[in-house]
Amino acid sequence: MSVPIPQPPKVPFIGNVRQLDRDVPINGFILLAKQYGEIYKLELLGRTMICANSSALQQELSDDAKFRKVVGAALVQVRNLVGDGLFTAFNEEENWGIARMSTGSSAAIFDNLLCQIVFLCPLSIPSTSEICLKTCKICWERFGPEHVIDPSEDFTRVALDTIALCSMEYRCAKLALICFVHLKALTQFRLNSFYTDDQPKFAVAMTDFLKECFLRVNRPALVQAMMPSATRKYEEDRKYMTSVAEQILNERRANPTDKKDLLNTMLNSADPKTGRHLSDQAIINNLLTFLIAGHETSSGMMSFMTYYLIKNPETWRKLQNEVDEVTGGQPLQIQDLSKLPYLQAVMRESLRLGPTAPARAVAPVEDVVLGGKYFVKAGTPCLIQAWMTQRDPAVWGPDANEFRPERMLDGKFETLPPNAWQPFGFGTRGCIGRSFAWQEVLLIMASVAQKFDLSFVDPSYNLELQMGLTVKPKDLRIKAKPRVLKP
Ligand code: HEM
Repeated sequence: MSVPIPQPPKVPFIGNVRQLDRDVPINGFILLAKQYGEIYKLELLGRTMICANSSALQQELSDDAKFRKVVGAALVQVRNLVGDGLFTAFNEEENWGIARMSTGSSAAIFDNLLCQIVFLCPLSIPSTSEICLKTCKICWERFGPEHVIDPSEDFTRVALDTIALCSMEYRCAKLALICFVHLKALTQFRLNSFYTDDQPKFAVAMTDFLKECFLRVNRPALVQAMMPSATRKYEEDRKYMTSVAEQILNERRANPTDKKDLLNTMLNSADPKTGRHLSDQAIINNLLTFLIAGHETSSGMMSFMTYYLIKNPETWRKLQNEVDEVTGGQPLQIQDLSKLPYLQAVMRESLRLGPTAPARAVAPVEDVVLGGKYFVKAGTPCLIQAWMTQRDPAVWGPDANEFRPERMLDGKFETLPPNAWQPFGFGTRGCIGRSFAWQEVLLIMASVAQKFDLSFVDPSYNLELQMGLTVKPKDLRIKAKPRVLKP
């Protein structure tokens, strides 16, 4: 027999909107999960939504045959920018299939992208780490050990430029390795995240646009109508970002290359059944999708890692020792990356406690009963709250809230219950950039561990969250002291 799904008290018309945290929705979800447990229901301006907080429910909802991705209200707003791009496409949209086939299902494309993380210098990676670590090299080192660093901002710059360069070679023609060494030349880099003191215009537009997408969703239409300046800014940001993507596409058409990056792949591949190519609009949608999906996520992951590593000095020391042993004090080499199991465990544990994409939505194809007792009507959005599911003591034990990379070591990760660790989503709509992000973060964080000792500016800092499309630490400020490398 089914039992009702708990629901917080609601008020007429707006339902449970007031229970949500307007600025940081995840905080509201965490509070509600503490109050209502493994499952609860919300009504938001007439829409019903179920939140699943246990690992068992996450496992049940991870079944492509019974549940399909829901492009929720916030993502529908994001569609105003990226339309049927991979992330926001409705399941039945044809362009999703073509784009996924051309970019996502081909491991070769992503392997190739990985090579491009080692971009510009295919033979060895020292210069790559210089590139990825520009922020650290140029800002962290240049400004000295007392300089106050906002790591989220710096990692965002690094991740945005890395995805732009690797997936669409978005940089000046002929910009070569040397440009990363000689700073002035880099000012030509068009997204130019590395060499501007302020956040680059594109990153600012994207952050503002995504934040506004979330705010709009829970604004009654009348309130929205009375906010013309917010609407104007939203439109300006949308147009600016679209114009950047158009420019990238036009430049590639004007200067074709045989590079196997995502842009060329999309330009050249066709649906094997219909022979249809992606239209220019669909390519622009996906270029913007890669920029959005591919930078805040990796940047958030590195920011959480930074927080947990500083908070756990013993772990930080172990990690530095591992990196020192593997590199022998020499610049990192590509082959070193596969010899860092402790770093991989730190990455997994950071993504468990700080899943930067903290929720995904699916809906049952047919009526179902969840957890053996909760009836859910077909089509009802179910939000899988990775922030909670990945802290479920039933799987992770009584110390589930503690940062302990050892739980991911020595074969323990491989023997976790299915889908217990799921920061990259699941199945046909799972993350296509997973291995790319993994290599990127390995490389950058190994280099950070090798080169710097990190500390909080405020030693009593405790994790607070900020949220756009993804979640990351709020007001985290650190100092980076260059290490004297052992010979
Ligand atoms: C999908 C997480 C990096 C591109 C997803 C999803 C998650 C996720 C949870 C599923 C969303 C859903 O079901 O609604 C992450 C995390 C990352 C990361 C935690 C880094 C730490 C990247 C990168 C790229 C990327 C670097 C770009 C190359 C995408 C795309 C999708 C996606 C295009 C949509 C796939 C589809 O629906 O077919 N990601 N991601 N992600 N991700 Fe990532």
